[in-house]
Amino acid sequence: MKQTGLSDASRANAAASIQLLPIQREDAAVLWHHARDDDAWVTPDRHWQTWVAWVEALLAAEVMGWSWLRTVSITGRLAGFVTVRTVEAALLPPETTAVECGTYLLPAWRGLGWNALVKQATIHFARSVAGMAAPPDWCLFVVPEDNHRAIAAFRSLDWSWSMELGPGGSFARFARRKSWEAGRPCVVFGCRAAVLAP
Ligand SMILES: CC(C)(COP(=O)(O)OP(=O)(O)OC[C@H]1O[C@@H](n2cnc3c(N)ncnc32)[C@H](O)[C@@H]1OP(=O)(O)O)[C@@H](O)C(=O)NCCC(=O)NCCS
Repeated sequence: MKQTGLSDASRANAAASIQLLPIQREDAAVLWHHARDDDAWVTPDRHWQTWVAWVEALLAAEVMGWSWLRTVSITGRLAGFVTVRTVEAALLPPETTAVECGTYLLPAWRGLGWNALVKQATIHFARSVAGMAAPPDWCLFVVPEDNHRAIAAFRSLDWSWSMELGPGGSFARFARRKSWEAGRPCVVFGCRAAVLAP
């Protein structure tokens, strides 16, 4: 399934087959097992303990209302996970709220057109998460400059309402912070969350 050429009805059916669910321990094990040989894996090393610590840190932050980790289930099968994290106001322009979103699809689910639909589901989820007083103005996706596939995937989305935020723009401080945290330059893509009405 690639999004190009899909009718509206097919796209709606495909979108309806996506669920974002709380992660279970067995999901964490399956994700780690599949991703061990993945160049785009999310933790700096591939040790189980590192991955578990990463997951547990996100779950602890969810208790505080700072981040959310959900598995992506497509037609009942585990296809990846997404993250949503609040962005501290000091990194944003005045009077602006944002969450940082991330998408990880297992290798077998890439290249099939699910990326756009999973990102849309993530933005819907981000608009409704508990812990935020109101839906965020922006959903920001951070991609290291050397992650060519993820950048190409974002640029190929047919979303008129999403944009690549240049290094000198309103989110420059956020981009600098994320690049510093990642230890390599990052590109920030932004979506105005309100465009996807609930
Ligand atoms: C990023 C991700 C969600 C994108 O989903 P996807 O299904 O792979 O995306 P698509 O297949 O729709 O798009 C990938 C594009 O990159 C292109 N591509 C593939 N490998 C590439 C490479 N090595 N260099 C450059 N472009 C590449 C593809 O041709 C495609 O472009 P097209 O749509 O113009 O044909 C998925 O790859 C993933 O989960 N990666 C691991 C996690 C990650 O990197 N997340 C990024 C942070 S949000």
